[in-house]
Amino acid sequence: MILVTGAGGFVGSYLLKRLSTAGQPVRALVRSRSDFERIRLASVAACRLEITDAISLDAALEGVEQVVHLAGTFRELGRGTFDVVHQNGTRRLLQAAKGANVKHVIYISTLGAAPDRIYPYVRSKWLAEGEVRGSGLPFTILRPSLLFGDGDRFLTPLTRLLRKSPYAFIPGYERLRCQPLWVGDLVSCLMRALGSGVGKGEVIPLAGPEQITYEGVIDLLQKRLESSRPKIRLPISLAASLTLLLERMLRVPPLTSGILDIWRLGAITDRHAVRKAYGFTPMPLSEGIRYLLSSDEPPSRRRGRKQRAAAPDRTPER
Ligand SMILES: NC(=O)c1ccc[n+]([C@@H]2O[C@H](COP(=O)([O-])OP(=O)(O)OC[C@H]3O[C@@H](n4cnc5c(N)ncnc54)[C@H](OP(=O)(O)O)[C@@H]3O)[C@@H](O)[C@H]2O)c1
Repeated sequence: MILVTGAGGFVGSYLLKRLSTAGQPVRALVRSRSDFERIRLASVAACRLEITDAISLDAALEGVEQVVHLAGTFRELGRGTFDVVHQNGTRRLLQAAKGANVKHVIYISTLGAAPDRIYPYVRSKWLAEGEVRGSGLPFTILRPSLLFGDGDRFLTPLTRLLRKSPYAFIPGYERLRCQPLWVGDLVSCLMRALGSGVGKGEVIPLAGPEQITYEGVIDLLQKRLESSRPKIRLPISLAASLTLLLERMLRVPPLTSGILDIWRLGAITDRHAVRKAYGFTPMPLSEGIRYLLSSDEPPSRRRGRKQRAAAPDRTPER
């Protein structure tokens, strides 16, 4: 049995689909009632709780051999600070996992996690990694870069904002850089880590083949949307304050503090990191944008272009 925490989220939804298709016994740990109902409707076993609550996690871990720990947050709301959710939540989960004799824990951290990080989201992921390393349980720590895919926390809100706003806002005068990774490619790595233990005991950076600036992403989106909004650069401190404000006001803000922290850190890695660790080449961002935007263009603009096909799977046959 595999327990997936944060199973109702962006990565979790992709992973659950892949595990179900592969016929793997899986239990989803979710927080909201709506995620719980949706997952149960898909005939996946689910339990509903917060990993940071005082209630016991033992029942969720009964009979579990492997855990994929995805539960996390990109914004701090109320008592749910980055440190509480990432560090304390991970500690509580691992204590219960130890009691249940779990054989393997896979933690999704973030590219660039390190002890000296000042950005709160990234620092909290490093602290959570420390909990995993010190747990005494066999582990794999995956450090993906910013992820893109249907319903992501980065391209989807950015595209929505670009469509609505007369301007294209760019945080910072310095060139924020990133190396985005297709969510389906992360899930392919996870399937290998679960199936044959590839990477057990290691900390593995995972990123796409392109290193790109925030402005570069805006350019790719504008090209695909056939728009040319004038660009406005915001001082990074103003962008950070606006982000804080918007994430408190809106259920789905255009940017969150956690995502902005990833951009500000500007972590990049080997362009062949995924190939080296898991043996396949991930999807370039430009291809992902073409795929993602192909079905939600107005029909008049879609004419003559290919309809959106099934998400490409670049994992080689095994
Ligand atoms: N997306 C990226 O670009 C990216 C990049 C690098 C690393 N990561 C990491 O990958 C993991 C998955 O990311 P994601 O994009 O799938 O995030 P997501 O869509 O926000 O999903 C996170 C899930 O965790 C749940 N959660 C949050 N706090 C919880 C708590 N206290 N108890 C139980 N569940 C809780 C959330 O539930 P609610 O919906 O109820 O809040 C949500 O379902 C995260 O750890 C993230 O830090 C993501």
